[in-house]
Amino acid sequence: MITGGRRLNGTIAISGMKNAALPILFACALNRETCVLQNVPSVSDVLTTLSILEEMGVSIEWRSPTTVAINAAGFRPCTSPDALVDKIRASSYLMGVELGICGRTRIAYPGGCKIGTARPLNYHTSGFEIMGAEMETNGYGFHGEAPNGLHEGKITFDSPSVGATVNIILAAVLTPGVTTIINAAREPHIVALGNFLNMCGAKVTGAGTSEIHIEGVSALHGCTYPIIPDMIEAGTYMAAVAGTGGCVTLTGVIPKHLESVTSKLRDMGVDVEEGEDSITVSSNGQLKAAQITTAPYPGFPTDMQPQFGVLLAVANGAGIIQEKVWEQRFAYLDELARMGASVPYNSFTAFTPGNQKLHASSVTATDLRGGAAMVIAALIAEGTTEIKNIHYIDRGYDNLIGKLREVGACIVREEVFLESTPLSAGSSS
Ligand code: EPZ
Repeated sequence: MITGGRRLNGTIAISGMKNAALPILFACALNRETCVLQNVPSVSDVLTTLSILEEMGVSIEWRSPTTVAINAAGFRPCTSPDALVDKIRASSYLMGVELGICGRTRIAYPGGCKIGTARPLNYHTSGFEIMGAEMETNGYGFHGEAPNGLHEGKITFDSPSVGATVNIILAAVLTPGVTTIINAAREPHIVALGNFLNMCGAKVTGAGTSEIHIEGVSALHGCTYPIIPDMIEAGTYMAAVAGTGGCVTLTGVIPKHLESVTSKLRDMGVDVEEGEDSITVSSNGQLKAAQITTAPYPGFPTDMQPQFGVLLAVANGAGIIQEKVWEQRFAYLDELARMGASVPYNSFTAFTPGNQKLHASSVTATDLRGGAAMVIAALIAEGTTEIKNIHYIDRGYDNLIGKLREVGACIVREEVFLESTPLSAGSSS
C-alpha cells in the first residue's frame, strides 16, 4: 500500500546485482573449492538459485546478511529439482555447467517473467551443438549429451543475448581448446562473470566486448568475490525521484553502468550528479518528454523501460518508447491505465501522450520490472494505491520497502492471507 504525492529525500544504499549474482552462483558449481561471494542481494531469485544448488549437493553457508560461502565438491549434475528450476530463467545456466562438467545435461523448462512469447533458448542450444553436444527438447525440458565431452567451438549470435553468452562461457571454462563467442552481450554482469571466473583460475578474455575467448582449464580454485552493484535497482530509484520530485543520493553504485539512464534523465530535465561510487538525482517533478529505444548494453536497458514508461506518461508532451529487446513488455501499461494514464501501444512501440494525471487505484504487478513501474506510479499519484502480486517485485529488489521509507515514502506491506478452508470439527489445529 503506497500513499503517493510526496517528494523523496535522503540516501539509499544500493545492493548487489541480481543478474550478476545468478550467473556467478551457478558458476560456483564448476568449482570444487569454496567460493565466498560478498554483496549478494537477498532477493527471491537468488534464494531460489541457492535452493536449487543445495538440492544438487552444493553446501551453502551464509556468513553475513550479504556474504555466502559456496562449496560444490558434492555437486550432482542432472539432479535439478524441476519445481524450483521452473521458477527462474537463470536455471538455464545449469545446462552450461552440467555439459561443461560431465558432457550431459537434463533440466525442466526454466521459468522467468513472461515478457516474451516464448523466451526461446535456441542460441544456447545451438551454441552447445557447435561444441559437440546433441541437444533435444521435449514436453518437459531440455536434455543434452556430448558423448566425447564438449570441444572448442566458434559461436556467433544473431543478436547479443545475455543468457546465451553466460551459458557458453560456463560450458567452455573447463572445455579443452579455445571457444570464441562473436556478437556476445557486453553487459557489466558479463564482465563480472568473466572477472569472477578468472579469479578462480579460468582464462576468459574479451568479456565486455562483442568477442569473447574462453581457453579451457583443467580445474578451478576457490576465491572471494564481491558482486557488482545493481544498476537496474539504482536506475529504478533514480526514476522514482525523477517522478516524485526531491533529492536522493544512491550509494555503492558504478555511475558508468548507468550512463544511458543518466543521459535520458538529463534530457528530461532532471539534475544528475555523478560521484566516485554514488549518484545524486534531484528533480522538481516536472519532466520533459523524450524518445526511448531499448538496446543491449551500452544502450538504454530494456529492464528500465517500464519505469520510464510511467515517467513519459506524466511528462509534459508526447513521447515514444520502442522496445527492441522483448516483444511483449508493455503489459504494465494496462495496469497504469487503471491509474488514469492511457498510453496506446503495440508489440514493439508505446505512444506516450504525456500530461497524464495519475490517481490512486488497485493495480497488479505483471512482472518484476512492471511491478517496479507500478511502485513509481503509486509514489507519484495522490492517494493510496494497492499493488498486488508483489512477489514479482521481491524477485529483484532487496528491501524495497525499507529503502523507500528511508527517503520518506509512505509504504507498507500487507500480508494477504488467502481464504483458508474452514477446519472440519475435531481436526487438529
Ligand atoms: C537477461 O535475460 C535478464 N535476466 C533480463 O532481465 C534482461 O531483460 C535480458 O537479459 C536483457 O538484458 C537475467 O539476467 C536473469 P537475452 P535473458 O537472452 O538472458 C532473444 C529482469 O528484469 N533470445 O539477452 O533471457 C530473447 O527472446 C530480467 O531482471 C533468443 O531469441 O535475455 C530476447 O528477445 C527480465 N534466443 C533477446 O534475445 C535465445 O536463445 C534478449 O534475450 C536467447 C535470447
